[in-house]
Amino acid sequence: MTSQQQPFERIFIPLDTPDLERALEIASSLKGLVGGVKIGKEFFTALGPEGVARVTELGMPLFADLKFHDIPNTVAGAVRSAVHLKPSILNIHAQGGRAMMIAACEAAAEEAAKIGVAVPLILGVTVLTSLDDQDLNDIGVSDNTLDHVKRLAALAQECGLDGVVCSAAEIEALRKICGAEFKLLTPGIRPSWAAAGDQKRIVTPGEAIKRGADYLVIGRPIYGADDPAEAARKIAAEIDEALG
Ligand code: C5P
Repeated sequence: MTSQQQPFERIFIPLDTPDLERALEIASSLKGLVGGVKIGKEFFTALGPEGVARVTELGMPLFADLKFHDIPNTVAGAVRSAVHLKPSILNIHAQGGRAMMIAACEAAAEEAAKIGVAVPLILGVTVLTSLDDQDLNDIGVSDNTLDHVKRLAALAQECGLDGVVCSAAEIEALRKICGAEFKLLTPGIRPSWAAAGDQKRIVTPGEAIKRGADYLVIGRPIYGADDPAEAARKIAAEIDEALG
């Protein structure tokens, strides 16, 4: 997944449901209007690889948001299995450390070559945006959140990851230290016309793109809209405008 010709290709829609029919309904109504679908632990634990296959049969790129974090050998095995889902994007926790991240990248490349599929982009989850400075302190991390995110992103890049998942507030700092090619994917996006829901630190799609985001995960503003297809088109237009 290297080309980003179309603004809409930057949008990934989360399918956070254990209900396959609902997931298929959301995905099929947005085919050609978003860059792909994001499958997370809720969908995957309920519906497994068979459920994922039903969605990818629609022909939409897959972001396997499984956030692996374990010893290197176990993560390498999980990544090898995940490559069979044929994701465009796969993520792991950067906090799993250097050896785990290197093992994940090697496993992805080897397994993709073995079964003849494209190597997914491997992204590192830095610090979950549900955690703040106090939470980090509680677990013995003395860096503040931004410094810890920067440290983990730099380490992820050193280990060969293609990019990281980050909050919109961190995009500019990471773009500076990781360069133009490193992929930055961010959730917490709300168009000016949508309700914030439970997202607190939100930015608009245009603002996130201007700050330097490559991919945006946008859920409720699209699938919760009266006309999801129209909402996706409006967001793509905003991205297009922000790209200049
Ligand atoms: O509906 P909404 O646009 O808030 O959906 C955002 C998606 O991104 C959900 O799948 C949510 O779990 C995920 N996410 C998030 N905030 C994070 C990390 C992931 O909202 N910090």
